[in-house]
Amino acid sequence: MRIQRARDFKDMSRKAANILSAQVILDRRSVLGLATGSSPTGVYRQLIDWHGKGDIDFSECVTVNLDEYYGLGPDSDQSYSWFMRKNFFESVNIKPENTHLPNGLEKDAKKECQRYEDMIRCLGGIDIQLLGLGLNGHIGFNEPGAAFEADTHLVTLTQSTIDANKRFFEKEEDVPRKAYTMGIRTIMHAKRILVIVSGESKAEIAKRAFFGPITPEIPASVLQLHNNVTVVGDEAALSLILEEALA
Ligand code: F6R
Repeated sequence: MRIQRARDFKDMSRKAANILSAQVILDRRSVLGLATGSSPTGVYRQLIDWHGKGDIDFSECVTVNLDEYYGLGPDSDQSYSWFMRKNFFESVNIKPENTHLPNGLEKDAKKECQRYEDMIRCLGGIDIQLLGLGLNGHIGFNEPGAAFEADTHLVTLTQSTIDANKRFFEKEEDVPRKAYTMGIRTIMHAKRILVIVSGESKAEIAKRAFFGPITPEIPASVLQLHNNVTVVGDEAALSLILEEALA
């Protein structure tokens, strides 16, 4: 695991965008695993900026997102599908048919999870998976206690995740209680993983996840077992991690 220290959110975003753009430049048909939330917004802005300057071309790229709320479709402005369009897809030359998220409107969870896993397999797997880190150590919506061997599945969100996500909704009752998420196994099969962490509130969990015991209680700790992980964190998020541990 390589850990890169960035000055602040903007620097973290630029460093992470550099890694993603290197992937796309080396292989224009890359399969990019993407995330939503606050952490990647600066990465997407930076990629849009470079795309606008002609430095990066997404026309052959394929994307697969980590997760989607159960019950929300692409027309809902709270859906992750909407988020991805507004924060990234609409501003670059990626083909809409090459962007994939779980279908939150599919009620048959078994069918939808199988479809998503099959699709990722048919694409040849994920070349690089971008991840944010939840305050409780979740990755995707794999909450504490999630089985390491799980593929894409339907989860019931924990109260801590509902609390963390309610900032995006008008009322807490509006936060969906379930979501489709890639499982830990799906994430661990990505050829490369890029984790971004920002802010003081993530300092404790970053230390525990990347330097503590590997346990389902902290889902992100499993990343210590992957052989190609880069963590890019800002000063605040890495403040509890010793200098010697940094790349
Ligand atoms: C988002 C996702 C989540 C977030 C995590 C961190 O697609 O799967 O695991 O990455 O909750 O969220 P932020 O970046 O908002 O702190």
